[in-house]
Amino acid sequence: LHSVSPLSNTELSGGVALAAKYRKTNMVIKNICCIGAGYVGGPTSCVIAWKCPNINVHVVDISEMRIKQWNSDKLPIYEPGLEDVVKECRGRNLFFSNKVDEAIKEADLIFISVNTPTKTFGIGKGRAADLKYVESCARKIAEVAEGHKIVVEKSTVPVRAAESIIHILSANTRHDVSFQVLSNPEFLAEGTAIENLLHPDRVLVGGEESEEGEKAVEALSWIYNHWVPKEKIITTSTWSSELSKLASNAFLAQRVSSINAISALCEATGADVSQVASAVGQDSRIGSKFLQASVGFGGSCFQKDLLNLAYIAECLNLPQVAQYWLQVTDMNEYQRTRFSKRIVECLFNTVTDKKIAVFGFAFKKDTGDTRESPAIYVCSHLLEEGASLNIYDPKVSEGQIIEDLTNTAVTDSPERVTKLINVQSDPYEAVKDTHAIVVLTEWDEFKNYDYKKMLSVMKKPAFIFDGRKILDHESLIKLGFHAETIGKRFTRNALHRSSGESFPAFSWVM
Ligand code: NAI
Repeated sequence: LHSVSPLSNTELSGGVALAAKYRKTNMVIKNICCIGAGYVGGPTSCVIAWKCPNINVHVVDISEMRIKQWNSDKLPIYEPGLEDVVKECRGRNLFFSNKVDEAIKEADLIFISVNTPTKTFGIGKGRAADLKYVESCARKIAEVAEGHKIVVEKSTVPVRAAESIIHILSANTRHDVSFQVLSNPEFLAEGTAIENLLHPDRVLVGGEESEEGEKAVEALSWIYNHWVPKEKIITTSTWSSELSKLASNAFLAQRVSSINAISALCEATGADVSQVASAVGQDSRIGSKFLQASVGFGGSCFQKDLLNLAYIAECLNLPQVAQYWLQVTDMNEYQRTRFSKRIVECLFNTVTDKKIAVFGFAFKKDTGDTRESPAIYVCSHLLEEGASLNIYDPKVSEGQIIEDLTNTAVTDSPERVTKLINVQSDPYEAVKDTHAIVVLTEWDEFKNYDYKKMLSVMKKPAFIFDGRKILDHESLIKLGFHAETIGKRFTRNALHRSSGESFPAFSWVM
């Protein structure tokens, strides 16, 4: 972050020139309100405040706890670089509060960045996005707004959700109030949010194809243009913008599931998925990014957005399209289950009463977010089999781990689970007297541990299961570990394989 210089004079004077141009259209933005102080609303607002020192950014949330944390030294989310930006801007042109009504009234432009989880009840249960939080924002804006407002849908929503927002706003406002609704989905990835916001691959702005719509699109583009080059700001119709977000996440998730499907083939045939991924990725039409086989994808978005996309397809009577995308989530579930079963099989087909160390609980490195983390599923499987778990994660709190694993949607016996989990703050303590280490998040620090020291305090034979393919397996084997990873079989482990798992005879090739 420190390598990123603040706005240069040219950029600032460019901003002033742009402001003069936009002033003519009466669409200069001086006050922004962001509703939702979560993983998207928080970092996005921070970067806007940092890069646009002349704009006041007011982030509001209904959660008092979240706002308290944003105003404290311990921010509610961990993101590399975030703390520095907050320190520089908070109290200057960046404010966090629960004063939703006031912030809406003052704002020229309002971002809706609230959560849109998968519905857990009623029509579309388990598939459709629950838009109740977005709708409640729209109703609140309609209730308290004065003058002209640009309302920006930043949350990920189904196609044509903006239409519902427009409907609610236009049916509930007084004659002196006017709105333009834009779609501006967020593409940041947790763990690299600040970097992604500062250097986005693209910024997408969808708006109504009318003079007023174009003015609103220009006003929002002007904000981003303080630091994002014009050619990276793409403008489309509102519906294309909404669908592009769902499609992007579906494509990303699909790549993970594709390489994971190949990893299963590698394990069964003796090929090595890293070598296959490297060879495949060197085709410039395919590209090498996002081809890392693993225990599976997690996070609050991929699964939810895939389900939402499939639901939309189903509703539009496109069952083949829905089935196609649902396969991506099925493959993800298969990968998690396959990995969990392999752990049990390698540990002589039982983990009952065995102690296992779990390294990593967050859904990916550099975040404390555990939503849909593969760790929840793998740990639950091991707990169901009677293992006791020593869990260590550098950023996830004990309370969060216990909450995730005792959630009644995950286990039918929260009391039993509580007894079987031990959340540790020191990885070396976590491995004492364990039969195995299971790596479930790709935290960099896991690569640099003294595994010789760890091995010395573990039960023998000591196993290590690398669900993220980040460790040096050959060295671990030399130390005396029995190592297992995704998409590769180590020949010295052949003895431990159950008969059903041995490499097939390839007779079908003849
Ligand atoms: P989050 O759950 O971290 O934050 C949402 C916040 O909105 C919560 O603090 C909640 O209290 C607040 N909220 C809900 N209803 C409210 C209301 N009526 N008034 C005021 N505050 C309200 O969610 P997150 O992760 O920030 O996601 C937000 C949206 O962005 C979702 O649609 C998500 O799909 C999308 N998204 C998320 C990304 C991520 O990496 N987390 C990346 C790109 C998009």
